[in-house]
Amino acid sequence: MTETRAVIDLDLPGATISRHVYGHFAEHLGRCIYGGFWVGEDSDVPNEGGIRLDVVEALRELKIPNLRWPGGCFADDYHWRDGIGPREERPRMVNSHWGDVVEDNSFGTHEFMALCELLGTDAYISGNVGSGSVQEMSEWIEYLTRADDSPMAALRRANGRDEPWKVPFFGIGNEAWGCGGNLRVEQFASLARQYSTYVRNHAGNEVYRIAAGASDGDLHWTEVLMKSFDPLENGDGKAGPFQGISLHYYTMTGTWQDKGSATEFTTDEWYKALERAAFMDRLLTRHGQVMDRYDPAKRVGLVVDEWGTWWNVEPGTNPGFLYQQNSLRDALVASVHFDAFHRHADRVVMANIAQTVNVLQAMLLTDPETNALVRTPTFHVFAMNAGHHDAAALDVHLLGGVPTRPVDGADLPLVSASASTKGDTALISLTNLDAEQARTVVLDLRGRDVVDHTARVLSADALNAHNTPERPDAVAPVVLEAVRKHQRGLEVELPAHSYATVELTLAG
Ligand code: AHR
Repeated sequence: MTETRAVIDLDLPGATISRHVYGHFAEHLGRCIYGGFWVGEDSDVPNEGGIRLDVVEALRELKIPNLRWPGGCFADDYHWRDGIGPREERPRMVNSHWGDVVEDNSFGTHEFMALCELLGTDAYISGNVGSGSVQEMSEWIEYLTRADDSPMAALRRANGRDEPWKVPFFGIGNEAWGCGGNLRVEQFASLARQYSTYVRNHAGNEVYRIAAGASDGDLHWTEVLMKSFDPLENGDGKAGPFQGISLHYYTMTGTWQDKGSATEFTTDEWYKALERAAFMDRLLTRHGQVMDRYDPAKRVGLVVDEWGTWWNVEPGTNPGFLYQQNSLRDALVASVHFDAFHRHADRVVMANIAQTVNVLQAMLLTDPETNALVRTPTFHVFAMNAGHHDAAALDVHLLGGVPTRPVDGADLPLVSASASTKGDTALISLTNLDAEQARTVVLDLRGRDVVDHTARVLSADALNAHNTPERPDAVAPVVLEAVRKHQRGLEVELPAHSYATVELTLAG
């Protein structure tokens, strides 16, 4: 077994890793909302007010910090007034992006906010710039958050909700360069300023406005958005009129026409997917450098509000519903992304994996026939990394002996790691990307004394192992026994193709 050394100064905490990088995304797409979160009050599936309770219970295990809704591309077709009032009277619409199905609007604003309350999570509402008006957006935030007898607050009360909700996050459009209106960035930058102005802070609800940002490596889009506002505009040290800009990046091994299978892949495709995931770090560096030029104090947040794997849909399912399996490979794609988010904690304030249930790289899959619920391998990465929420990032220096694998002209390091500390604890995440070789990692722990440790590992015999209703725990975390004391700290044996977390108790 080959050896890598990871040097960690436990007494040099860096930027706080916002818990919001562990955010989620629920779009009106396929079976994410309908069948995933929402079954309706008359369903046999145990529910509270129509919301599936097994899904809520599972997601509570992850302490999900925020949930983005209603899109995605759907957001720029969505008119929020269609989703309030008696359900049987709500107008219908066509979900033109996703399967061209008829949407009956039975899941709307009240249902979404009830879901957030059940989950104990912050709402991230994605507003319509592409086909909606400034007035519509302005009235939505008034409806949601105003306490007095304003027209929208009165309408909300008439629909059964007295108290205003809290809405900490609001998206100004989505993918404005594409499904959100096919706009040029200069045009969108002006609109983002205008629309953001009318997403007002009502009744003490302070909104963090996120302008629709770039895709992948489109640095020009980021640059024009950064030029278009003054990071000190509000005079209170806060950026304005929007506070964050987004970035979308998906991992796939093929093309948009043939993205690759979720479970039938070669070893080369294993590495290719992980190289595409590791690319997130380089993207954050590049977009961050552009942002630094205009905002060296880092007042403007980078919000990666769509990321994850995008594979071909499962055979026999609706191509517009984006239902895909989720294997051990997806789990390692997630852990590699989180290492990047932790390393860029000074700029990346939020991230939202796409999407929570039954769509793309989901946490949960539900069976449309039996309603059985399965936690995916990706779910377990979120759970095992939960200790990083709001912890201070620690640098991890990987020294010597990190093997690499050439992938499409790039050298993919086969060990990925990140760490954080909170009080008298530290959490270290380690990923062995090597499809075949186990690896010893010596944790060279400096600056504080370690009094205890526990460790868990997520792996499986096969690279494409995944969970099903018949085998729900085929990929599930177990205690990692192979952690020994070492003169430098601890020595961890990582199985081939595995992800592990080591939790330390530190002397006070
Ligand atoms: O997550 C699926 C889709 O991917 C979203 O609707 C869109 O924003 C992106 O292109």
